[in-house]
Amino acid sequence: MHAIETEGLTKDFGFWKRRFRAVDGLNLRVEEGTIHGFLGLNGAGKTTTIKMLIGAIRPTQGSASIKGQPAGSVRARSLIGYSPEHPRFYDMNALDYLELMGRICGVDGGRARSRAEELLETFDLGHAKDRSVQGFSAGMSQKLSLVQALIHEPDILILDEPTSNLDPVARYGLLKKLRELVTERELTVLVSSHILSEIEKVSDEVTIINNGRTVVENSIDGLKQEFAGNHFILDASDNQQAFSLLSQEASAEKVWLDKKHKVNIMAADIERLRFVLPKLLADNGLSLNAFAAKEFSLESIFMTVIGEGWDEQHQDEIDGAWQESLSGSVTDYYSRIGGYQR
Ligand SMILES: Nc1ncnc2c1ncn2[C@@H]1O[C@H](COP(=O)(O)OP(=O)(O)O)[C@@H](O)[C@H]1O
Ligand SMILES: [Mg+2]
Repeated sequence: MHAIETEGLTKDFGFWKRRFRAVDGLNLRVEEGTIHGFLGLNGAGKTTTIKMLIGAIRPTQGSASIKGQPAGSVRARSLIGYSPEHPRFYDMNALDYLELMGRICGVDGGRARSRAEELLETFDLGHAKDRSVQGFSAGMSQKLSLVQALIHEPDILILDEPTSNLDPVARYGLLKKLRELVTERELTVLVSSHILSEIEKVSDEVTIINNGRTVVENSIDGLKQEFAGNHFILDASDNQQAFSLLSQEASAEKVWLDKKHKVNIMAADIERLRFVLPKLLADNGLSLNAFAAKEFSLESIFMTVIGEGWDEQHQDEIDGAWQESLSGSVTDYYSRIGGYQR
């Protein structure tokens, strides 16, 4: 049985000519005990799907189940901890608020309070437990929303863009914590995001949607393998010369030097390339430092599958943006990868 399963899940908004299909026949499968990344550009249909999973809105067609229970049923709801895209809280202090949320979810007051204290510590919010949650910063609110989702010890966490308000360092910290929780408590997590590089680091599997439809469904490793294809990177003692030599080699379809001055090869015939390469280099007095299939990032795969195209320049921009984001501002980061934010 899957932790989450949908069958042709569909949601239309509006009527007649204004009718708009936000989710279109989605078949989502989330294995128990995994972190499942749910990816797509803004407007792809992630939040709408999630709202159907938690039973907040009804599907127009199709169905969804949570551990075999129909989505929206009391049993299904009790299995889920949910953190919304834009969390809002009552004006209470953190502990009282969490106790209230625990009670609403059927946890008795004392137990809810001790669990709240423990979770606040886990998420480094212990210092703010007596403060009003209305005064929490965006990052603190996001963490509080996660704590609230965990208060009744759910089996499944559904998190809608839990890191969108966080700076890159905080994002990474939060996702690392999530990974620990999954291991410790055997949780299943469905986490939506349009920021792909972070999902790549913590997810076991991903579903990428576009216009309400699945475009990719795979494990992270499987995805990379599938898309790595015939692109290889070569580093030799003289890359300029290696580039010239390979440009005339029939088993290489396309050869170029990248910004790091490594030789990139799109192989026409991988077997033959592997065979001739060492000899070609040796005969010309070159030594080989490295030769490997190119590691693809989730970003490149994402842009390829949704048809926005991908090229080396994109990769360099992303690499650069990610590096810079660790020192520079978040705004910088977003503006540099602007293509994914809309
Ligand atoms: N209540 C609604 N009424 C009409 N259209 C909606 C409603 N909610 C979402 N949509 C539309 O459905 C599409 C998917 O939205 P959403 O699920 O929020 O995407 P995502 O979470 O991936 O950014 C968008 O085009 C959005 O404008
Ligand atoms: Mg959304």
